[in-house]
Amino acid sequence: MFARDHLKYAAIPLPDRHDMSAAQMQVTAKTFHDFMRTRHSVRDFSDRAVSRGVIEDCIRAAGTAPSGANHQPWHFVAISNPDYKRRIRDAAEEEERRFYAGGAGDEWLKALEPIGTSDQKPHLEIAPWLIVVFAQRYGQFDDGERFKNYYVPESVGIATGFLLAAVHHAGLVALTHTPNPMKFLNSFLARPASEKPTMIIAVGHPSPDAVVPAVAKIKKPLQEILTVF
Ligand SMILES: Cc1cc2nc3c(=O)[nH]c(=O)nc-3n(C[C@H](O)[C@H](O)[C@H](O)COP(=O)(O)O)c2cc1C
Repeated sequence: MFARDHLKYAAIPLPDRHDMSAAQMQVTAKTFHDFMRTRHSVRDFSDRAVSRGVIEDCIRAAGTAPSGANHQPWHFVAISNPDYKRRIRDAAEEEERRFYAGGAGDEWLKALEPIGTSDQKPHLEIAPWLIVVFAQRYGQFDDGERFKNYYVPESVGIATGFLLAAVHHAGLVALTHTPNPMKFLNSFLARPASEKPTMIIAVGHPSPDAVVPAVAKIKKPLQEILTVF
């Protein structure tokens, strides 16, 4: 929801600067990579509680993401209520049963084999929090008039990346889960039809016996993902 006076252009001096020497920058960049490579999608959660304040700060971090025309076309729904989690698990597993029974197609199912996923999604109930990410096709001024959002998938993808990084930074683990289709989440969570659910992110602590698929540790080397001119 935007106020119309947010549309006027006004410049302020750059409020935050992080001046570093070249050497500091190199160390900082490497330290961040070393930290990010310890993030893993985890499917085995403990039921250990996580405070709402931590989740709120992670969402605040996600909300700092860049977005097309600064329209911030996202909404996050954070769920700790066990009844809600149970209903989401039931509905997601129903979709997943169809998906794994052939709806996905052979190629997709083959691609998932090394990850070891199935139609069973206990993490949707065990993890203390589920965060559902919604993408807003259009926004509304505070007087109710609609305006178009731009680069919605890109913007929401970046905000979701910020969220995953914030969760990792808070010492927690997450699983990006994408039941297909996900439309049931609109009615469950009372979100308008103009919003598209993009992801359910389970957030919490890993269980003591948590495992990850070995292949998930294999990331493409720099020469494969970078071209420099
Ligand atoms: C858009 C997206 C959708 C995903 N959907 C699922 C999913 O439905 N179930 C699941 O177990 N993992 C899902 N994942 C997690 C991937 O399997 C995981 O990111 C990948 O195996 C690499 O592992 P890593 O995250 O530990 O690096 C998804 C990831 C992304 C980015």
